[in-house]
Amino acid sequence: MSVSGKKILIAVSGGIAAYKIHFLIRDFVKKGAEVQVIMTPDTEQFVTKLSLSTLSKKPVYSEFYGDNGTWNSHVELALWADVMIVAPCTANTLAKMTHGMCDNLVIATYMSAKCPVFIAPAMDLDMYAHPSTKQNLEMAEDYGHFIIPAESGELASGLIGQGRMAEPETVFRAVENFFGNINPVKSLEGKTVLITAGPTYEAIDPVRFIGNHSSGKMGFSLAEEASKRGAKVILISGPSTQTTDDKNIELHKVISAKEMLNKVFEFYDRVDIGIASAAVADYAPKEVAREKIKKNDDNLTIELVKNPDILKTMGEKKTHQFLVGFALETQNEEENAKGKLEKKNLDMIVLNSLRDEGAGFKNDTNKIKIFTKTGKKEFDLKSKDKVAVDILNFVESQLLK
Ligand code: C5P
Repeated sequence: MSVSGKKILIAVSGGIAAYKIHFLIRDFVKKGAEVQVIMTPDTEQFVTKLSLSTLSKKPVYSEFYGDNGTWNSHVELALWADVMIVAPCTANTLAKMTHGMCDNLVIATYMSAKCPVFIAPAMDLDMYAHPSTKQNLEMAEDYGHFIIPAESGELASGLIGQGRMAEPETVFRAVENFFGNINPVKSLEGKTVLITAGPTYEAIDPVRFIGNHSSGKMGFSLAEEASKRGAKVILISGPSTQTTDDKNIELHKVISAKEMLNKVFEFYDRVDIGIASAAVADYAPKEVAREKIKKNDDNLTIELVKNPDILKTMGEKKTHQFLVGFALETQNEEENAKGKLEKKNLDMIVLNSLRDEGAGFKNDTNKIKIFTKTGKKEFDLKSKDKVAVDILNFVESQLLK
């Protein structure tokens, strides 16, 4: 179920994140929704009515009264809407909403609304962490509203922490999920997500192995994001220093590719979404020496044999699972990624190119492109936590199709 034909009332309050609303309006309009924007009087300091009305194709209201003695009826606006989104929702607007401080058009409209209300808070980290904000968010949740939590990252103040408004795409997805009868906030509730992460180590002898530089960060970020969305997460990780204390994540530590394969297939039948972010060693020593290999000759030859391709096997045994693979390429990136999508029978593949600075293995950031059989989407360089949000948003958009 899409948002096409739905009436979306977007209430903007006065924070720097108001600039993101242009993208949100565009997303809704592109998908055939009707958008009406209202704003608090202060919001005009951040964005213009002209830009918002051009995108929404409707006049934008911030006052009860128009120019020619007309009345901008908050009641009509409220009853018109199929959903109301307050974004960005400042600490002030949130407090007014929860306490009925009805001193502007946005609050009067909100209090008259009978439709579901989505709130995307945005403020500086200390304001977000303040007990009053926490209490107000809880209250809003008790009123039955959907809270789309602020994200962590760099804030307009230059400080780093939680307080950034969720990305427009995340807000859009929450509303789209709602119309698709999926819990907008716990959008993966009832789903089991299996993620492979980290490197594998292939023993040469009791003290040596063949491994790689994968940190496991991408897989752990994906696991945490899936868990936030209500999924039951099975995380199968090779040797990694990453940890998680998330109770929804069942962490299984393995060492080699063969162990990873066996662990995956303990669970595979009951998995809804499989994401293979592990950097599995392609080859393993044919024989593992029982004792530490002594350095005798100038040359040492270790015979290697091919490891099982875990993801390919998942693809072959796919029944209902939605499968996501990763491709880390240095040349012919797009072609190779699309080739893997076909060959491994995947539903989507995430490409990171080693040519992009900040992307790939050991970094905290990543820059990705996503391919499906019919589509392609490119993303900016972001923290791996945010990349995980993009990936799961994309997965959800595919599941809704
Ligand atoms: O073929 P290539 O190794 O480039 O494919 C990468 C994708 O396949 C990743 O999603 C990786 O986790 C998965 N893979 C796997 N088992 C292997 C090799 C790769 O699951 N032996």
